[in-house]
Amino acid sequence: MVEKSREDLVNELVDLLVDSKRTVVFTGAGVSTESGIPDFRSPGGLWTKYDPMDFTYQKFISDREARKRIWHMRETIGFSWRDFQPNAAHIAIAELEKLGKIDCVITQNVDGLHQKAGNSEEKVIQLHGNMQWAKCLTCGSRYRFEEVERWLEQGVEVPDCVQCGGMLKPEGVFFGEAMPVLETMEAERRSKECDLCVVIGSSLVVYPAALMPQYAHNSGAKLVIINEGETDLDGMAHVRIWGKAGPVMEQVVAGLKRRLGPV
Ligand code: APR
Repeated sequence: MVEKSREDLVNELVDLLVDSKRTVVFTGAGVSTESGIPDFRSPGGLWTKYDPMDFTYQKFISDREARKRIWHMRETIGFSWRDFQPNAAHIAIAELEKLGKIDCVITQNVDGLHQKAGNSEEKVIQLHGNMQWAKCLTCGSRYRFEEVERWLEQGVEVPDCVQCGGMLKPEGVFFGEAMPVLETMEAERRSKECDLCVVIGSSLVVYPAALMPQYAHNSGAKLVIINEGETDLDGMAHVRIWGKAGPVMEQVVAGLKRRLGPV
């Protein structure tokens, strides 16, 4: 079979976007690596440097040393969530919303970059929570991450709730922690109702998140996967584009704008 060119594949995706009445974009860590945030399973990814078992909910609430490591992780990996800016992929996905072409963005990411790039809050479904906030596990008080980071920079080892002294935890979902119920139900509903699901930057190995593209496919939607590496659902893809999310998505939006004409 003749290999299709990148241009042909991008044009196939543009055709699907033009005809789609309800497109869901599903993203993973690969959509944020061009912003400088390492993904998890690529060479050099976070799980090649850290033990994921240090990031279980059970360990966080039962082991003060684990909590301290996690709160001070930015000193070891040298980054803080507030440092990052959206990249071309995020900007292109926000552009798709402006062009009226997105029903919602279902993301596994906790970096808040889709919203920062311009996607509306109500159109971004965060399956794994968001590291922009910390929450008290006792009274539910919420604190912006920047505020907690200031406490850490002033010498606080393990931050506690200012209101009640309870345990604070980042709002990102840890392994073994329940997924946000409403977000998960809404993501499932939107995945089953879409006619096009575009996966960008995910290995699709973590569940239940990786069920969403399968719900879409099994409900008759076309599945498109844009990813640098292999994914677990490559065999299901109607269109498979191998490559970096930023440049590919820029080509997709440029092609779509040419097809839609002046909006
Ligand atoms: N462009 C396209 N694809 C990329 C890029 C890029 N610039 N950078 C990385 N990728 C691809 C990698 O090849 C990899 O297949 O993105 C994928 C990222 O996969 P993972 O690192 O497994 O990240 P993700 O799929 O989001 O992981 C899901 O696992 O540990 C949990 O909670 C964590 O939300 C995360 C979940």
